[in-house]
Amino acid sequence: MCQPLHFLITAGPTREPIDPVRYLSNRSSGKMGYALAAAAAARGHPVVLVSGPVSLAPVHHPAVAIVRVGTAEEMYQAVAAKIQQAQVVVMAAAVADYRPVRMAPQKLKKTGQPHLTLDLERTEDILGSARHPLGFRGLLVGFAAETERLEESARDKLARKSCDLVVANDVSRSDIGFEADSNELLLVFRGGEVRRLPKASKTELASHLIEVIEGLAISAADAAPASHE
Ligand code: CTP
Repeated sequence: MCQPLHFLITAGPTREPIDPVRYLSNRSSGKMGYALAAAAAARGHPVVLVSGPVSLAPVHHPAVAIVRVGTAEEMYQAVAAKIQQAQVVVMAAAVADYRPVRMAPQKLKKTGQPHLTLDLERTEDILGSARHPLGFRGLLVGFAAETERLEESARDKLARKSCDLVVANDVSRSDIGFEADSNELLLVFRGGEVRRLPKASKTELASHLIEVIEGLAISAADAAPASHE
């Protein structure tokens, strides 16, 4: 076991309101992020879990503090408020990439037209903001949910968002990934190494991933120049 590390983990989807009763979202269940929070806490690490709307039971562990959010903007604000206290940031949330430019104040009514067009705008890129402007200097772990070219996309994401590790999974398969209890992961490290974690329960994979992250933290500490105080 390594020294306790302060984790900040994002999990679940976000919901971007269209009107008071409708929203844009995705199929993320939050299971992977919650499993990671439970695994980190079980190994002695304090965790702030920033959670989008999910139907999972909260992680019952005294070391886990849950911050509940709805939209990408709220998730960004929650992460910005907590990131300075974190040593490890793991972004497992499936954040909506776009939101309606404006939320209709009243429930939208059908019109006589066959089509309806929604104007969308980009949401905050939370992972992409961690280094700059949020100034995070610890271990940064991103997720990549892909339907094709898994390794290539993960490498690209790792470089673009200055991550130490990108955890990729194939969401085109129905037996793993979104909503499923199992997953199969491809780990792409900053140094170029690639490691495959074969199909297992999200709970097992989460423990494994926390061990991998602990290993990265130990190597980073060993590589840092010794302080001479
Ligand atoms: N993410 C985030 N904020 C967003 C979108 C994504 O923090 N607005 C994070 C996710 O939590 C995940 C990683 O970014 O860790 C990958 O998400 P994805 O949407 O696949 O990344 P993109 O860079 O938007 O890639 P793509 O071009 O595939 O949409």
